[in-house]
Amino acid sequence: MKLIGEKVVLRPIVMVDAPRFVKWFNDPAVHRFLTRRKINLKEERVWIRSLPKKKDQVHFAIDTRDGVHIGSVGLSIIKRDNCAIFGIVIGDKRYWNHGCGTEAMKLVVDYGFRRLKLHRIELDVYGYNARGIHVYRRLGFKFEGKKRERIRWKGKYYDEIQMGILRNEWQP
Ligand SMILES: CC(C)(COP(=O)(O)OP(=O)(O)OC[C@H]1O[C@@H](n2cnc3c(N)ncnc32)[C@H](O)[C@@H]1OP(=O)(O)O)[C@@H](O)C(=O)NCCC(=O)NCCS
Repeated sequence: MKLIGEKVVLRPIVMVDAPRFVKWFNDPAVHRFLTRRKINLKEERVWIRSLPKKKDQVHFAIDTRDGVHIGSVGLSIIKRDNCAIFGIVIGDKRYWNHGCGTEAMKLVVDYGFRRLKLHRIELDVYGYNARGIHVYRRLGFKFEGKKRERIRWKGKYYDEIQMGILRNEWQP
């Protein structure tokens, strides 16, 4: 399945994407914002191979409209509670601040609420990820709490911020 926007196309993740993910997740400028830290090609291939079997995982590759693979976005669904944990990475740094992340998020949050009928979508974001926090707030995610000094980065501690949005708050 594909979700098509003005700047990006979301499509299933396939095996040939694996080396790009490995490159991105091993780049400190990218993985400093992520819980998923360094990985190797074998681990990434195992993860991609497992995706079609995982009914509680909805992950898309993010392509530009002209077909450049720049990242991924997805939901980990907690069926019992009808909610999901949101995650996104634009791994190709040349595409940061071009509006691609915002549009990919909109497409997936909309998919989660309107197609999957989720009640709630939540995420954790590191306190120093000002761009991420800005984009989530703009889409309507609310601050729900923080874990104080949960994150250690280069010897310093930072808060982890918890944010969430309910279906009746979503404005497509
Ligand atoms: C966070 C991320 C998904 C955002 O996607 P993006 O395509 O770069 O973001 P967009 O271009 O859609 O929007 C960026 C917005 O943040 C703003 N911004 C950029 N740097 C900022 C900063 N340091 N502080 C506050 N706002 C900032 C931009 O001005 C823009 O806002 P505007 O449209 O109101 O001008 C992407 O940068 C990314 O993947 N980063 C690395 C991994 C990551 O942080 N993942 C999320 C983990 S919770």
